[in-house]
Amino acid sequence: MTHTPTLRIATAADLSRAPLDVTAVLDHLVREADAAAPTEIGFPGAVDLDHSEVVARLGTRLWNNIGDPADAGGTAHTRVLERAVVAWVADTLAMPPDDRWGYVTTGGTEGNLSALHAAHRRHPTARVYHSTAAHYSIPKTVAMLGARGVVVDARPDGEMDYAHLAAQIRRRRRWPAIVVATAGTTMTEAVDDTTRIRAVLDEHGVDGHLHVDAALSGIPLALDGRLRLDTTSGVGSVAISGHKFFGVPTPCGVVLVRDGIRRPVSHITYTDTADTTVTGSRCGLAAALLWHAIATHGREGHRWRVSEARRLAAYATEQLTAAGWPAWRHPHAFTVVLPTPPETVRRKWLLASDGDTSHIICMPGITRGQVDAFVADLTAAVTPRPIPRPRPATTPATH
Ligand SMILES: Cc1ncc(COP(=O)(O)O)c(C=O)c1O
Repeated sequence: MTHTPTLRIATAADLSRAPLDVTAVLDHLVREADAAAPTEIGFPGAVDLDHSEVVARLGTRLWNNIGDPADAGGTAHTRVLERAVVAWVADTLAMPPDDRWGYVTTGGTEGNLSALHAAHRRHPTARVYHSTAAHYSIPKTVAMLGARGVVVDARPDGEMDYAHLAAQIRRRRRWPAIVVATAGTTMTEAVDDTTRIRAVLDEHGVDGHLHVDAALSGIPLALDGRLRLDTTSGVGSVAISGHKFFGVPTPCGVVLVRDGIRRPVSHITYTDTADTTVTGSRCGLAAALLWHAIATHGREGHRWRVSEARRLAAYATEQLTAAGWPAWRHPHAFTVVLPTPPETVRRKWLLASDGDTSHIICMPGITRGQVDAFVADLTAAVTPRPIPRPRPATTPATH
């Protein structure tokens, strides 16, 4: 097999010369992804689960879960598995069985859109509060909904500044509030405290909705019992990514919303389905992959994956600090925050960086060997320039 240094099939002219050597192109893509894999420690995709059985058995035909997970009929679909996934995640979050609804999405972003759409339909005049550490999908969703967003400060460690939230709400107390908490911010994996947010809302007598964007940390924190959507939590919805903690090989996620807040939807005659979801046709393969990841490991297996990943993150923090590179992490986090390394190291290790701060994410499947190699590269590259270490809060609580 010859090595192709660049992929030369990108133009329409290339495609118009079809048939192309498709095998060579696919080989090239796989070779490039395989070559990058050992240094992919900057993005939060688990790499320890084997999804090949589902891909081999189901990956060659269309599985379309069009409509609501509760719908029946249509072409080949995996709604029975989707319902099981939604129920398992809702149970893990202690959501009341008689007040829950959800579906398998294309990812955390669609989950945020779906949940905030439901909240906004219920509270059309609400102001939508989110912190500066919220994911970019939140302000984007606020704009798509034509809602009014209010930005709240985040502390240096990434957690919401509750005093600033209170000040922002006080100035707008005549309007309902939709507050977006993040469970696992993108850069530092900080967890906003939903109990404190609820207390701020109650203190100001403001009606509204509390949504949790739990793209990365939703499942790990739910398995700990630290993220709960039980009746006392005051949390109305949650969005989780499926390709992060479960490492599913296609972008996907799960959204859960309290059934009681939803408004009636239309029934689509020609598909004979309820129009409850953001997209019409939906990926049945993603639901099957999530179901398989859950079915083959169960709660205990996934708890073990969480604790191993946290153990590695603690190890990485120690090793980096011992090498003179001041690193820190929140106690529950897979994410290790460090001063941004020199460009050569950053590029090789595909690090996500925000100015002078970068992170590595010790997702399940990342190894000590990878951490050691990263630390060795850093040590070889430069003498580090310490930055002040933000103080993480004490034990995070989301309920
Ligand atoms: C906090 C947070 N929310 C939402 C998302 C978006 O998730 P997805 O990429 O699954 O749409 C991310 C992704 O990194 C995230 O970190």
